Amino acid sequence: MERKRVFSGIQPTGDSLHLGNYLGAMVGMLDLQEQHECIFSVVDYHAITVPYETERLSQRVLNVALDYLAAGIDPQKSVLMVQSDVHEHVELSWILGCLITVNKLSHLPTYKDKVARYGVAGLGLLSYPVLMAADILLYEAELVPVGQDQLPHIEFAREVARAFNRRFEPVFPEPQAHLMPGAVVPSLLGQGAMSKSVPGSYIALTDEPAVIGKKLAGAVTDPARQRLRDSGEPTRCNVYTLHELYTLPQQLSEIAAGCRGATIGCLECKAVLAEEISEGLAPIRERRRALAADPNYMRDVLRDGAQRARSMAEATMFKVKQAMGLLTA
Ligand code: TRP
Repeated sequence: MERKRVFSGIQPTGDSLHLGNYLGAMVGMLDLQEQHECIFSVVDYHAITVPYETERLSQRVLNVALDYLAAGIDPQKSVLMVQSDVHEHVELSWILGCLITVNKLSHLPTYKDKVARYGVAGLGLLSYPVLMAADILLYEAELVPVGQDQLPHIEFAREVARAFNRRFEPVFPEPQAHLMPGAVVPSLLGQGAMSKSVPGSYIALTDEPAVIGKKLAGAVTDPARQRLRDSGEPTRCNVYTLHELYTLPQQLSEIAAGCRGATIGCLECKAVLAEEISEGLAPIRERRRALAADPNYMRDVLRDGAQRARSMAEATMFKVKQAMGLLTA
């Protein structure tokens, strides 16, 4: 199979990655690193586009890096790097921003959502998708493993690549999203997807079994099912959607039947799920603990990752500047 460049990034906006990150994007990354040339990044410059806590940022960056490794990203196979360690991300972002209209950016859904949520419409927030396009194009990446919510951003990155290639020279391949089938992991709060920035919505990769049990016990289920004797509708229940991701078909159909026939209660159903998830996360949890005990190792991995990323970035920037008439000698 043809070896392609792959890029993906995760924002350090929470304390730990969660099941949604894992099933929505990381499983795809693990698959890709076996046959492609992958660059995985902690995108800290994206995280500062909305209000954040200064004293927590550096630990959060480190935590995401640890989570990448614990989930199975292998620094022998992939480049793991922190975005702000390679200044070319910002340099290319400036250049690409000159090819895009403000009008186009202000109509992207994520921008409008974030302005509504944070009440600030900073220039960084507006150009967030430009920086993301720069992340991808800087490595001439062709594949981008992401969750479904990022599709408009990938489409935008493709437009930016086309705009550059048309205006100057064909430098960039058009990147493609690498979507995981059906891996939108529902929030425990009953609406939307698990999100790092919505406390209570997620199960973290580092959660201990007791914590997982407790979080699930409090999770919202089919609102029509108030008591054990009410029959529930699994397709309206987020906990059931999680079961679909974790539980084998035989047991899954028993659970669905038990819910509809009111023969199993929500707590019982949740306890089964808690066990499945705890077991599934056990190897990640253990690797994470071992890695956290050796901070020098993590530092070395990131230093090496930055170096390898930088040399790829420099090669692209040379082509970009040459195409644009920015090189004088
Ligand atoms: N916007 C992405 C998210 O919030 C993070 C991201 C930044 C990213 N740059 C990227 C993802 C480049 C893929 C490729 O999930």
